[in-house]
Amino acid sequence: MSAIDNALLSSLQDIVGSERVLTDANSLQHYGTDWTSLYAPDPAAVLLPDSAAQVQAIVQLAVTRNVAIVPSGGRTGLSGGAVARKGELILALDRLDTIDAFNRVDRTVRCGAGVLTAQLQAFAMQRGLSYPVDFAASGSSRIGGNIATNAGGIRVIRHGMTRDWVAGVKLVDGRGELLDLNKGLVKNNTGYDLRHLVIGAEGTLGIVVEATMRLAEAQPATAVMLLATPDIQSITQVFDTCRDTMALTAFEFFSEAAMLRVLAQGDRQRPLERPAPFYALLEFELSDSSARDVALSLYEDCVSRGWVQAGVISQSDAQKASLWRLREDITETIARWTPYKNDISTVTSRSAEFLAEIDAVVTAHYPGFEIIWFGHIGDGNVHLNILKPEDMPADTFHRRCEEVSQSIFAVVQRFGGSISAEHGVGLVKKNDLHFSRSELEIDIMRQIKKAFDPHSIMNPGKIFDT
Ligand code: MLT
Ligand code: ZN
Repeated sequence: MSAIDNALLSSLQDIVGSERVLTDANSLQHYGTDWTSLYAPDPAAVLLPDSAAQVQAIVQLAVTRNVAIVPSGGRTGLSGGAVARKGELILALDRLDTIDAFNRVDRTVRCGAGVLTAQLQAFAMQRGLSYPVDFAASGSSRIGGNIATNAGGIRVIRHGMTRDWVAGVKLVDGRGELLDLNKGLVKNNTGYDLRHLVIGAEGTLGIVVEATMRLAEAQPATAVMLLATPDIQSITQVFDTCRDTMALTAFEFFSEAAMLRVLAQGDRQRPLERPAPFYALLEFELSDSSARDVALSLYEDCVSRGWVQAGVISQSDAQKASLWRLREDITETIARWTPYKNDISTVTSRSAEFLAEIDAVVTAHYPGFEIIWFGHIGDGNVHLNILKPEDMPADTFHRRCEEVSQSIFAVVQRFGGSISAEHGVGLVKKNDLHFSRSELEIDIMRQIKKAFDPHSIMNPGKIFDT
């Protein structure tokens, strides 16, 4: 365990109060890692500031003591971005959880970094508006972490990613200076938009302490249709067919292997009589009375073309929620097989050929491994999860997957795709960054980091080495 010297400890206690500096083993373990659970955490201490001024004071102290800082939100990330394993100080933003300064005219609201996604969604709904970015982890993910990872989720095809909803960001940089970026403006062409550099920077440029978030109008009612398909290619055909005719809010998919694992939890029922190799889950707006008819005629058309074998449309919110659970519960359900997670993307128009090539690589290189496919096929992003065989040691499994990933990423590179479409790079993907980014791009990123973080104390070793 990393020791913290008494002088540093007492200066930190002076800043946040002694009960807000945690050094017990449970807290170090709890705050020191994220959902990857691949790395053994080893932070020096966990700090729970309750103001931007305290965050600034901690960073200024860290500069003088040359100690690194790892920011910590809901720790629902899947790339090791929030892992502290080298004696860093963890700056947990849980207590910056105030939502205020709601402005109905601007349709904005001010959120502390520690506000939960679900808290913002509920706040908007109570005011007849909505915060439409959504993911399975919305009950535990926090706005600061969403911004640091530019979190996407299940409705990107309709509502975009977190980036699209950030009107302003307050950032404590690597000197401990407070930057107020964009200040909620809609239009602001005054040079580089530093706000957008901070979004998705995984805490390597500084710590997001506050954000002005945009809200949307209340969303129309939606229905969910689940379609059974013979293969992934058919799903892309269904997508191409319905793209222009339905007001889609989500177009997701998952395999029968994923369905089986979720059903094995015991509290859910198979929604269709017979199993099929793959399922497409479409959510669409019931904007007018013909929306269901359009969905039904799409269904019939797809059946006649052999792309769809069976289907069901939700008739109530409860049915809609239970269909969604089949998709949203996959991550948590398969977590106990410590899956190796791929999060790859291409432009949607090339999904069919892209997935055919990835599938060929996977079939050739992973005989005997269980593969779980799911993801956001409507925006070109699929999650390919490889489950660890029970009897294989974790490090052998991981090494093997990393080898195969080189072939998968070579395909991604040929398609000009992304090796991490939404989970970020963190520790997990940093050695593979070159498949998606050129040397020059990575070098420019390093220089940008230096400008924000000249002492290299902000989440060092994440995305790339400095
Ligand atoms: C999802 O799509 O459910 C999330 O990205 C989490 C995951 O990939 O496991
Ligand atoms: Zn996802």
